[in-house]
Amino acid sequence: MIQARKLQERFHQIYGGPSNVYRAPGRVNLIGEHTDYNDGFVMPAAINFYTWIAAAPRNDRRVCVHSENFSEDVEFSLDDPQPQRRGHWSDYPRGVAVTLEQAGCRLRGANLAIHGEVPLGSGLSSSAAIEVATGYALLANSGRTANLVKLAQVCQRAENEFVGMRCGIMDQFISCCGKAGHVLRLDCRTLEFRLAPLPPGVTLVIVNSMVRHELAGGEYNKRREECEVGVRYLAGHLPQIRALRDVTLGDLERYGSGLPKDVYRRCRHVITENVRVAAAEAALEHGDLSEFGRLMSESHRSLRDDYAVSCSELDLLVSLAHKIDGVYGARMTGGGFGGCTINLVQSDRVADFRNRVGVEYQRATGRTPEIYVSQAADGVQAVTSAN
Ligand code: GLA
Repeated sequence: MIQARKLQERFHQIYGGPSNVYRAPGRVNLIGEHTDYNDGFVMPAAINFYTWIAAAPRNDRRVCVHSENFSEDVEFSLDDPQPQRRGHWSDYPRGVAVTLEQAGCRLRGANLAIHGEVPLGSGLSSSAAIEVATGYALLANSGRTANLVKLAQVCQRAENEFVGMRCGIMDQFISCCGKAGHVLRLDCRTLEFRLAPLPPGVTLVIVNSMVRHELAGGEYNKRREECEVGVRYLAGHLPQIRALRDVTLGDLERYGSGLPKDVYRRCRHVITENVRVAAAEAALEHGDLSEFGRLMSESHRSLRDDYAVSCSELDLLVSLAHKIDGVYGARMTGGGFGGCTINLVQSDRVADFRNRVGVEYQRATGRTPEIYVSQAADGVQAVTSAN
């Protein structure tokens, strides 16, 4: 583990002394987009891009954080009675520390050195990776073993309440509970999940449009509100519903005609996307990759037309992918407004895919896409013990 050793060396230069290393992965979502905060279903995989943290305990209640990516150091006290968000990368580790303490986990102070590999602002959950890695490291550093499901919930709460982004549970959950070679189907209401192996002969290829989703925070929270408006309205006719997860397409057609047009469309995306996740799970079980790919492409159309979270560059990447032999399906992945597409590609066609998408996207947009041939990876873990 070169990465781990290098980070331990840096830690030693910065703080002196030995450290333990932890890492948490980013993720790619195969299908089930913008369903998690509607109590629905998602199917992500963890990917082999990680946030790495070297950590060692301190004898006081301070946390010192060094970021290799930003070449910056931040320090805070776990006893600060009024911790404030700063609109800064350090809100993520700090938010997690604060939320763990609020949840009753008394932490030891810590020195941390962080190195993130997940590309920022690309829809691959660099935020969840830093949250989960920090939470796991701070717990281990305090002699505690993390309950992974609870850790995912704490990290989501940190992002919702401290950072101010009202994300669902998907990213933190997969960063905690992912398994190498597998996708995870999660019920975001009950948090029950099933792991399904990715069949041999197929590769996950992620294409980064290089459009950063800067505006995603505001637009994302707006989509969430539109879904809530839809639920409140439909509950007037269907008092038993709690979330769009409880609504069928028939219900929407029957009772939704009084909804604002956009809200109606947002609801239709979420409802049909939940149905697609169930169908995709069945297709995977039967080894029917063509059907799985068809559902991915339908999901993209729904995100583009009904949910309005795609952009011209993502649409172009998807349509380029569809022209290439050996591509089962392609869609935008993550929150949208830029970021990446996920492509399910026959393994022996990956080289051709890379070439063609690379050249044609660059020709059309002037941007050189980054293309990651990705493996489904394990969730958060300790990498080495102190040297
Ligand atoms: C972001 C959020 C997730 C999820 C996706 C969209 O990644 O963090 O909770 O809502 O967008 O599916």
